Amino acid sequence: MTVDSLFRPFAFKGLTLPNRLVMAPMTRSQSPGGVATAAVAAYYARRAAAEIGLIITEGTGVARPASLNDPNIPRFHGEAELAAWKGVVGAVHAAGGLIAPQLWHVGAVRSRDPNWTPPGAYDSPSGLSSPGKRFGAPMTDAEVADAIAAFGQAAGDAKRLGFDAVELHGAHGYLIDQFFWEGTNERDDAFGGPAIPHRARFAAEIIRAARAAVGPDFPVIIRLSQWKQQDFTARLARTPAEMESWLGALSDAGADIFHCSQRRFWEPEFEGSDLNFAGWAKKLTGAPTITVGSVGLSGDFINAYGGESSKPASLDELVRRLDRGDFDLVAVGRAVLQDPLWAVKVRHGRQDELMDFSPKAMATLY
Ligand SMILES: Cc1cc2nc3c(=O)[nH]c(=O)nc-3n(C[C@H](O)[C@H](O)[C@H](O)COP(=O)(O)O)c2cc1C
Repeated sequence: MTVDSLFRPFAFKGLTLPNRLVMAPMTRSQSPGGVATAAVAAYYARRAAAEIGLIITEGTGVARPASLNDPNIPRFHGEAELAAWKGVVGAVHAAGGLIAPQLWHVGAVRSRDPNWTPPGAYDSPSGLSSPGKRFGAPMTDAEVADAIAAFGQAAGDAKRLGFDAVELHGAHGYLIDQFFWEGTNERDDAFGGPAIPHRARFAAEIIRAARAAVGPDFPVIIRLSQWKQQDFTARLARTPAEMESWLGALSDAGADIFHCSQRRFWEPEFEGSDLNFAGWAKKLTGAPTITVGSVGLSGDFINAYGGESSKPASLDELVRRLDRGDFDLVAVGRAVLQDPLWAVKVRHGRQDELMDFSPKAMATLY
């Protein structure tokens, strides 16, 4: 099977991606003091110069005191921080690429470094880090409003800095997802409730704030997942109808593109169809979607955190689904982290040069 369809352009709202390949957002924790370095800029530019159609940056923190849980993750507020991001945008554009920041708030996910605590209380919908596990206090109405405004401000700053799009991190059990999930959202106000559209209100307000800040023509992507780091089997939408009500609320609020995070892209979302999450999201909303999860590799990324290596794997099933119209874009994480030239090698059939993924690559920033 040829990979030609991965290398066809994709146009959306005035943005033309040269191909379908997106670099998945990957936290690297290599920005001391929260300021992205020249090495970070060079790392993204290297991939932009090598057939990655759109770079989505590592998660970067919005302006809430505890939006991040690691001092080496870059912030997306403050003068030095934003100036550094401007440098990253410049480096990626100079290499001929396009770039979106992933705007992030970790919510009630504890610090990765036991010797460091964020300069403020952890935010969460109901003071729960996972179902039944108390962690901090529920956000007050004023804190919820401030968090929504912080995402809006960051989206506006992204546009002003010259980014090409923006992604909101609504996946993997972090703050926005803590609102989506009934296991961590017990609020009985307008931001909680028994059905997913109630719990999607926080995300919808964030999308509205982002949209108001960037205007109608700037692409707003939202990353979503059924699975949570707190529970890989969690499901926000158990049926297509539930998924339609969840994504519909986000679409109505102004989300343009759904980035549907799975650990293995080929896994069907619901019984009776082989469509994956991105496939269903596109079918139910008509919006463009991005798939992700073990593209080009034999093992999944959670196992990589456990120290497991992966081998290069066939792209045939991915291309079959892309050609069928299931999704528009394909995000690639570890394969591109390991090898900046991964997409060039794929395009030109240099199969024998594709590299194994080694978890050791996560420690360096080449
Ligand atoms: C080192 C590393 C850091 C990650 N950091 C983030 C992140 O900041 N935001 C996010 O949404 N996903 C993050 N992820 C998940 C990836 O974006 C991607 O969904 C996952 O690695 C699956 O893609 P892959 O199998 O191609 O690696 C991270 C993954 C890795 C390996």
